[in-house]
Amino acid sequence: MSRQYYIAGNWKMNKVKGEAVELAKALVEQLKDGKNKYMIAPSFTNLDAVAQVVKGSNILLGAQNMSTEESGAHTGEVSVLMLKDLGVQTVILGHSERRHIYKEDDAMINKKVKLALAHGLEVVLCIGELLEEREAGKAEQVCEEQTRKGLAGVSAADMAKVIIAYEPVWAIGTGKTATPEDAQAIHQFTRGVLADMYGKDVAEQTIIQYGGSMKAENAAALLAQPDVDGGLIGGASLKAETFIPICKTY
Ligand code: PGA
Repeated sequence: MSRQYYIAGNWKMNKVKGEAVELAKALVEQLKDGKNKYMIAPSFTNLDAVAQVVKGSNILLGAQNMSTEESGAHTGEVSVLMLKDLGVQTVILGHSERRHIYKEDDAMINKKVKLALAHGLEVVLCIGELLEEREAGKAEQVCEEQTRKGLAGVSAADMAKVIIAYEPVWAIGTGKTATPEDAQAIHQFTRGVLADMYGKDVAEQTIIQYGGSMKAENAAALLAQPDVDGGLIGGASLKAETFIPICKTY
């Protein structure tokens, strides 16, 4: 496979500063000879402290979200300029918790995607269906729509900085993982959508991560699938003992 494995940790709303720094230090030490691409996304309040730890390492610093706007009257929001100022290199957008708990829609997510790319950030665009959508046979349709709408107006050249994360909502934090075959089916389908939008070359180069209860025990089988190029890991990324083995699966 020419695509490099990309393993990312989404720490969500966990860890106070001291805990975040401690985990980041352990990861820097234990991944220094790792051969894959790595990223961790601490909460906004811990970005500055974690930035100091990962600086110069092979671990990218990610944010979990950002505002649709650069500045102004947006109480409680965090701007792309603030993220860049702290050394953030990548941003997770459209996570299912943002879509479903905080009601972010595709138009809003698309605005964020374009703003992040315009400022040179890498984007991890999350897509994925709800359980009822899967049961209704609509998994592909939902993923296609989220991909097309999320990437509307994004150029083929900008796709070099876009990662797609397929995260079936029913598998996030539930302990239920998609089977490797289920994951592969949606990854392959999504790569086909990208090929239709951008051509085969861009589609072949785009990293598509899997997320949803990924852990050391299931990572090898998932990552062995031809279109599964990495993982976006929540629960298992919160401890070095559970994250490192996933990072070092291959
Ligand atoms: P999980 O979360 O690994 O805890 O299921 C994945 C994610 O939401 O990114």
